[in-house]
Amino acid sequence: MSNSNGILRFLTCGSVDDGKSTLIGHLLHLTGNLFDDQLLVLEEESARIGNAAGMMDYSLLLDGLMAEREQGITIDVAYRYFETPKRKFIVADTPGHESYTRNMATGASNCSASLILVDARQGVLPQTRRHLLICLLMGIRKVLFAINKMDLVGRDEARFREIEQECLSLAEGASTLAPGSCALQVVPVSALHGDNLSVLSESMPWYRGVTVLEWLENLELVESTAKAPFRLPVQYVLKGSMESNGWQHEDAQTSAPSHRRATWRSYAGSVASGAVKKGDRVVILPSGVETSIERLLVGDKEADAATAGMAVSVVLAGEHDVVRGDCIAHLSDRPEQADLFKVRLVWMDRQPMYAGRSYLFRTHFGTIEAKITRIRNRIGLDSCELLSASQFDQNDIGEVELALARRFPFDPYLECTETGAFILIDRISNATAACGMILHSMRRSSNIHLHREEIPRELRSAQKGQKPCVVWLTGLSGSGKSTLANVLEVVLHAGGHHTMLMDGDNIRHGLNRDLGFAEADRIENIRRIGEVAKLMTDAGLIVITAFISPFRADRDMVRTLLPAGEFLEVHLTTSLEVCEARDPKGLYRKARMGEIPNFTGINSPYQEPLQPDLRLDTASRSVEECADLIMNLLQQQGFIARSSSR
Ligand code: ADX
Repeated sequence: MSNSNGILRFLTCGSVDDGKSTLIGHLLHLTGNLFDDQLLVLEEESARIGNAAGMMDYSLLLDGLMAEREQGITIDVAYRYFETPKRKFIVADTPGHESYTRNMATGASNCSASLILVDARQGVLPQTRRHLLICLLMGIRKVLFAINKMDLVGRDEARFREIEQECLSLAEGASTLAPGSCALQVVPVSALHGDNLSVLSESMPWYRGVTVLEWLENLELVESTAKAPFRLPVQYVLKGSMESNGWQHEDAQTSAPSHRRATWRSYAGSVASGAVKKGDRVVILPSGVETSIERLLVGDKEADAATAGMAVSVVLAGEHDVVRGDCIAHLSDRPEQADLFKVRLVWMDRQPMYAGRSYLFRTHFGTIEAKITRIRNRIGLDSCELLSASQFDQNDIGEVELALARRFPFDPYLECTETGAFILIDRISNATAACGMILHSMRRSSNIHLHREEIPRELRSAQKGQKPCVVWLTGLSGSGKSTLANVLEVVLHAGGHHTMLMDGDNIRHGLNRDLGFAEADRIENIRRIGEVAKLMTDAGLIVITAFISPFRADRDMVRTLLPAGEFLEVHLTTSLEVCEARDPKGLYRKARMGEIPNFTGINSPYQEPLQPDLRLDTASRSVEECADLIMNLLQQQGFIARSSSR
């Protein structure tokens, strides 16, 4: 994904009318990257749609891509390749429709420069600001503003200078949100006529700066292999032997040990960043074992050195326990390891993001569970301001804190894009929910240590003569959760069990007094209850909870907090009609009159459990019957002895 081979990847930003396709099409032509037959078709097509003799409509070239996109073949980002004697280029073109933030971010995450098109007749528009900001936020630090359609403003210098000034002050405003030096260039062009694309325009003698192509050809690639840190994520562990005819790999898992030949293990993967030489001193992470590169293969040939993008396998000096997902790095320039990060996210999922939710975090080094612990801010793309936020909607960009299930190797994105970039995956749909960059680690792990307790939870529960668990009652308001919870606790208590009851209305008067019923508040409500319930099971108690807990993800989150099997989800399936007819607190009536916002079942959703441990309809069973069924479940699962049931 890097430009290590002297390839410049750049992004084009602008809407269709700004002349993006024409500019790229014309550049392809000027650099001799069009085939004769393509040119012929272009001439014919241009003539057919009534262009003046000799005037080609270069945007037609990219229309093929547009058609593909419309058919859904190429989604999100289209890439084009071209080259000049000086450099190879890959240009990412993103469609300008409403999910442009998501698409631009996808394109920008692979690019080190961008061309932002501005229509000279219109000057800088709100979208120009958004384009610039997204590029900067995604780490692009080289931006060319192409002030296009200069021919339509009489190639007027004053107009250009005016827009140039607007662009520069735009960049200044954006720099507070995305600090760091940025190479900016503003060039007056006519994509249609070719002015200042590859040669300076005679019709604009007042401009003697660089042309678009010169700028692209001469940009220094910061991420040159020489400077980037060496990172090799291990993808495969191979076992093989050295024979006279060369190297032979066998899969480490399946091969039988060979006695006749000298065997070795090698670790294969693509070099994510930087360069490595035979003999280099390296460290393996997370284990921290130090060793050196004894042998290096690029493809299946022995080599002395390898650089980013190459598929290699390495043999290390000595025997080590290296597994898939480990990171091999230079001893003197190793990645950090942490489990708590401040990150910048571009939210892509249709479902909003809330603090407290868990996702899968994926980088080159594998996939691990992660939780969004705090939303720091959302970036107002129009106002260039940091806004406070309780959620991210699709296309939002902002900063959040992310906690991983364990320490993970990483680099800050601005130091190494390859190992500082990640995606978040929705655990249920498996879809990419966000792409992000790691800004820096937060040192939770070094300051807060888990205290080892002298009395483990097993001793506490053994003293009480029971196995702790959480009986989690979920269902609509009025479905009978509190009533059932009370009866169940009485039965358990009578059987000599140690219990604790947590009920929605009560907890909301104390611990969760500060929380309302908006989605973000409900998530936090359940998170705190989950943590408290966990502490109570650690104390050896059988915990009964009665909360609507309308969201599946939050109930699943509580399940993961507890040891396997200790979370019993009981769904009170009592229908909305019955609950509403009961209306014990008169809340449904109020909600129907529009007096209560976000009332579950009326104007806020309830997500039914997919596989609850028990389903109970309190409309067709008495509360005692329901309590008995839960007691049976507790017995079956071995939480209470059979004799203690009524
Ligand atoms: S939860 O959705 O966050 O799990 P919880 O169970 O704690 O809700 O609280 C639900 C109780 O709060 C309901 O039984 C009802 O008495 C009261 N309540 C007040 N406003 C609402 C609302 N908008 N939606 C649901 N319940 C509400």
